Order: sequence, then structure tokens, then C-alpha cells
Amino acid sequence: MKIAIISGSHRNPSQSEKVARHIERTLLAEHPDMETWLYPLADNPLPLWDQTLWEDNPEWITRLAPLKEQLATSDGFVIVTPEWHGQVPAGLKNFFLLFNRYQLGHKPALIVAVSSGDGGAYPVAELRMSSYKNNRICYIPEHIIVRKVEKVLNADPADNETGADAYYRERISWALVVLAGYAEALKPMRDKVRLHHDRFGNGM
Ligand SMILES: Cc1cc2nc3c(=O)[nH]c(=O)nc-3n(C[C@H](O)[C@H](O)[C@H](O)COP(=O)(O)O)c2cc1C
Repeated sequence: MKIAIISGSHRNPSQSEKVARHIERTLLAEHPDMETWLYPLADNPLPLWDQTLWEDNPEWITRLAPLKEQLATSDGFVIVTPEWHGQVPAGLKNFFLLFNRYQLGHKPALIVAVSSGDGGAYPVAELRMSSYKNNRICYIPEHIIVRKVEKVLNADPADNETGADAYYRERISWALVVLAGYAEALKPMRDKVRLHHDRFGNGM
């Protein structure tokens, strides 16, 4: 099984990427058969959507092909998003404009929101409300909000607040078990059901 982890912050460095790397290490350590692919949006590696994407622009095709391959061969996703002014960063919303149901459709995804303070609820609500309609990504009911992120999941234990750090490590570990369960359960479903309908390419 393969899980793709998208780090949605385009700051470099970012706390979201720190959390994403912790998630990748946890998946690899606790799920021996698991393959991972981590894609950070640091420094905005993807141009903004433009009309030529729908006109088979060869530059878009070349740029997106390796990413589409990675996403299409994934069985589930972890979407790590910081809260920026109460929102999901524009680069992550752009990601959802560039990829579609053939890469993301009917695959489970765990949302992990990140805040330096007590925020993090808004990006969870935003992703659940508006990032899935046409690509049909399936957000699982469990999600993680890493608050006061600078105090947890650091490599040096001296930088961590002991209780909070232990709590997030345990909770992330359990949420990944749940995600892996959904990924395994939905794989045969995708093989069995006619998921792509010529007349219903987009969600309502
Ligand atoms: C442009 C910008 C806006 C931000 N707005 C919020 C916010 O609305 N709520 C919040 O809890 N944190 C906010 N933060 C702080 C982030 O929570 C903090 O930077 C955290 O480390 C996650 O972002 P990062 O992954 O880019 O590091 C903001 C940060 C930036 C750069």
C-alpha cells in the first residue's frame, strides 16, 4: 500500500513540513509494508492553474505527469495544511485545481491541520467543505489538529513540551492506523464499482 503525504505550506522551512516528515517516519516505522511519497509545496513548485491546462498544453503535461503517476498509484493521502489567516494556503487550493478523480478519486485522506497557536479548525472545515467535489477524495471522519506546533514533534526532546508531544505522537499514530484501514477497505471497492461515469464527470 502507498500513502502520499502533501505538505500544504509554501513557506520554506515550515512547521507543516516538519509534521509531514514525522508522519512519513511514523508510517514507515509502524507499517512495514507501507510505501510513502512526500510532496512538499515549499516555494510553490506548481504554477497557478490556467486555461491551457484544459487545452493539453505540453508544458503542463510534462510537468504534471510524474506527479499524476505518484498520486494515481497511491491508495490514500495525508493532507497537511497550516492555518493561514483562517484559511488553507492558496498553493494547496491550487493543488486541488490541478489533480482530479483519476488521481484522487474514492481514496481515503486524513486531514492534518497545523497552527502555531490555538487555531487549525478553519482549514479542516474548508477542506471538508470545498476541496473534494470533483476529485472525489474521501476525507475520513478522524482528523488531527496540531496546536502550538513549535512545542511538539521536534527532533530534539528538549524543544518539546513533554505531555503535548506524547499526546500528538500517540494520536497521529492511531489516526494513521485508521487511515490505513480505510485505504485497505476502499481498494477492492474501487476495483469492483464503476466509479467513472461519462455523464457525471463532476460532482453536483
Ligand atoms: C500568512 C500567515 C498567516 C497565518 N495565519 C494564522 C491563522 O489565521 N491562525 C493560526 O492559528 N495561525 C496562523 N499563522 C501561523 C501558523 O499557524 C504558523 O506559521 C504555523 O507554523 C503553521 O504554518 P507553517 O506550516 O507555514 O509553518 C499564519 C502564518 C502565516 C505565514
